[in-house]
Amino acid sequence: MKLEDARIGFAMCGSYCTHRKTLDALAELAPRCKSIIPILSRESGSEDTRFGTAAALRQELETLCANPVWDTIPQVEPIGPKGLLDLLIIAPCTGNTLGKLAAGITDTAVTMAAKAHLRNGRPVLLAPSTNDGLTVSLRNLGDLLCRKGYYCVPFGQDDPTGKPTSLVADMKQIPRAAQDALNGIQTQPLLIC
Ligand SMILES: Cc1cc2nc3c(=O)[nH]c(=O)nc-3n(C[C@H](O)[C@H](O)[C@H](O)COP(=O)(O)O)c2cc1C
Repeated sequence: MKLEDARIGFAMCGSYCTHRKTLDALAELAPRCKSIIPILSRESGSEDTRFGTAAALRQELETLCANPVWDTIPQVEPIGPKGLLDLLIIAPCTGNTLGKLAAGITDTAVTMAAKAHLRNGRPVLLAPSTNDGLTVSLRNLGDLLCRKGYYCVPFGQDDPTGKPTSLVADMKQIPRAAQDALNGIQTQPLLIC
């Protein structure tokens, strides 16, 4: 399927330091696809941090996507039965959400969106960003990459000396990885050195 024909869900988790780069990538993606529904986790939708306020994030997302934010489990549940999306992007995807997805825990709008969407056999694209990416979250990421339907935005170590276990996806590659995932392809190279 071409990006231009795709209905995309764009879910953002609480890796606040990557929100700016992610929104810049979304600004490139949004005009290229048929529609985008913005989705926020409870944390990213409600917490103000030194990287910005929840209200500002919500407003920017709604402007870029021309759709209201969905941030509750009842709002995203119809994604499954009504087949609302062709691709779900989770960017940034925290260690917390990676762990929940790997363990089958469904207690946020983001994890519920993934569960609902996967039941339709359609792709989920993850853009991990977490300081424990090379420790406990590595097994969750590996677990998800072995599962049908999951794809990953290429990622690497953002600060090998200062944060030796941190992994961050290259958000600029989201549009390319989205097109690849719609075609059932894992974007390569997956690992950035
Ligand atoms: C300022 C700030 C920055 C954070 N950055 C990250 C991050 O980059 N990666 C991560 O996995 N968690 C990060 N966290 C922790 C998550 O926000 C926290 O685990 C939260 O429960 C994630 O919820 P979610 O996965 O439902 O969005 C950060 C928290 C704060 C307050």
